[in-house]
Amino acid sequence: MAAGIDDIAIYIPRLYIDAEDFAKARGLDPVKLQKGLGVSQMALVDSNQDPAILAANACLKIMQKNKLSPEDIGRLYVSTESSFDESKAMNSYVIGMLEQVYGKGAFEHCGGIETKFACVSGSYALYDNTNWIRAGEAEGKYALVVVSDIAKYDKGSSGEMTQGAGSVVMLLNDQPRLLAFDPKVTATSIKDEYDFYRPFGKETPIVHGQYSNMLYMIQVRKALEAYKKKIISTGLVKLEQGETILDHMDYINMHLPYSNMGKKALAYLVRHEWRQLPRWKRVLTEIGMDEPVPKDPRGTIESVLGDEEFMTKDHEFTKLFTKTSEYQEVYESKLASSLIASTMIGNLYTASLYLGFRSSLEFEFQKGIELEGKRVGFGSYGSGSSAMVFSGVIQSGYKEIVRDMNLENELGDRRRLTLEEYEILHENKLTLEDPVLQPKREFVLTNVKTDEESRGERRYVFNE
Ligand code: COA
Repeated sequence: MAAGIDDIAIYIPRLYIDAEDFAKARGLDPVKLQKGLGVSQMALVDSNQDPAILAANACLKIMQKNKLSPEDIGRLYVSTESSFDESKAMNSYVIGMLEQVYGKGAFEHCGGIETKFACVSGSYALYDNTNWIRAGEAEGKYALVVVSDIAKYDKGSSGEMTQGAGSVVMLLNDQPRLLAFDPKVTATSIKDEYDFYRPFGKETPIVHGQYSNMLYMIQVRKALEAYKKKIISTGLVKLEQGETILDHMDYINMHLPYSNMGKKALAYLVRHEWRQLPRWKRVLTEIGMDEPVPKDPRGTIESVLGDEEFMTKDHEFTKLFTKTSEYQEVYESKLASSLIASTMIGNLYTASLYLGFRSSLEFEFQKGIELEGKRVGFGSYGSGSSAMVFSGVIQSGYKEIVRDMNLENELGDRRRLTLEEYEILHENKLTLEDPVLQPKREFVLTNVKTDEESRGERRYVFNE
């Protein structure tokens, strides 16, 4: 049975900080953000928004667009790493909000949980729900998988320039208009790591950014190896002499903590795949230098990162590699369109990969490319850490969805914050009653109880 993504919708909060303003205030070169990281704007939540609101607003959007009633939905999964309760799943808040619109008890028949594994958990949720459909358990109902996060980092930290907020919701069924997942190919890797984590009670994560970037690439590569074996054994792909599995992915979407991480990760995967192939000789000739090797090739990530001579040379080699005509062709045709939305919105943790997928669909369609039948590969990564590689094929009904995509319209009337306003918000100095923006047909947080008996209870309203 086919199963996959029938439709996709996003909700991005309208406040943002511009890279230029941010860089100036922190004494950084704006070009580091804009060109070095691929960050132009970072979306931020208002004082009366939380990750459950972002999720509920996205769910309402997709349900209204598809004229769905709660009866049509069999499962609602929420994936996030911005949880505000250790026990009550974010689903229940989202259901509570949706029932303000659809009526109390309207979703009672619906199942679902909150999933957590840093940025990869949405991919696990998609996989589980796809299998729920494949198993014939859905009885004609849809699953909603919503990925929602607020990527907030400490003031003055290097992560502060890779913030963002928003959610993406995917509607899954057995006759998807957009993308059918390839069966029996999903591959994972997992490892106990401390590259990025957020201990109980802490609002912002502890991040080892460079370590995390390298771990991300290594773990995704391991998952890609496993994916390769699986997809070949299913017979979906046959590798000819001199080919890599990446040649069989028309599009590649990578996890995007910031836009340029996609470039970095793709270059890493391509480089490691091509190294075994006859084409590598040609590429090396164009690069004009030998591929550097670390002093201790079997060393740890720390030892490689600490090997300054290697890191400098490797940086130079990677830069030259990404400029080769063969790599440029891969980058432009398979990845570039997926990075556009990220530069305008920033880091969405769990939702970053899927914002990239959404971006790729819109901007590839605008090029006039026929997308039906194209295979899309996904490289998902969550710190802590786990990676997942899987793929799907774009379906014949995709135009019905993609022709109406317009990121700029969806972002709407955005409000550029001054640095002063940003810092007030960042320090949580604005109250729920005193947001920057007036809500427009969306959910807002009106109260978080503080008394002993009901501490932490949240109240939301839908603003017409
Ligand atoms: N002009 C142009 N480019 C510049 C520049 C300038 N003036 N200064 C630096 N750059 C480039 C660097 O060369 C580098 O590019 P490269 O990656 O191609 O080498 C890029 O900008 C970033 O610079 P770098 O020095 O590596 O940045 P940093 O160490 O200060 O921080 C991160 C970058 C991503 C590590 C940091 O922002 C971070 O930790 N973010 C959080 C990421 C995260 O949370 N990940 C895990 C969960 S998703």
